[in-house]
Amino acid sequence: MAYSEKVMDHFANPRNVGEMSDADGIGEVGNSKCGDIMKMYIKVRDNIITDVSFKTFGCGAAIATSSMATELVKGKPIDEALKLTNKAVMEALDGLPPVKVHCSVLAEQAIKAALSDYYIKQGIDPETIVGKATECDES
Ligand code: FES
Repeated sequence: MAYSEKVMDHFANPRNVGEMSDADGIGEVGNSKCGDIMKMYIKVRDNIITDVSFKTFGCGAAIATSSMATELVKGKPIDEALKLTNKAVMEALDGLPPVKVHCSVLAEQAIKAALSDYYIKQGIDPETIVGKATECDES
């Protein structure tokens, strides 16, 4: 299966790339099988994700899914960002080849990890809100 135009676009022109020095939450996740790493930064005001950025050391699909995930949560309430699934990221990119599905899982987990970190920094236990952090080891 070839990559969709949207995947190629988000790979070639990723949105929201870079570190954020004043992030309210930072999440880093990795896949132990492929070795790819994704880092997400979020800024939160009044329960809204006002800004989001990422740094991904990984494959093209990891970059495209990171980019799309940031676009899908930017400006959204935390509640909505928590509902973001890797399936939604894939659909927004018009699909991914089966061997690249785990790249979108990483994007979902990176957003959740950043939200967990945000709650921890607020002194709130994130587990009941975000769920348990899990290692991404799907291939
Ligand atoms: Fe592992 Fe894409 S090959 S994140």
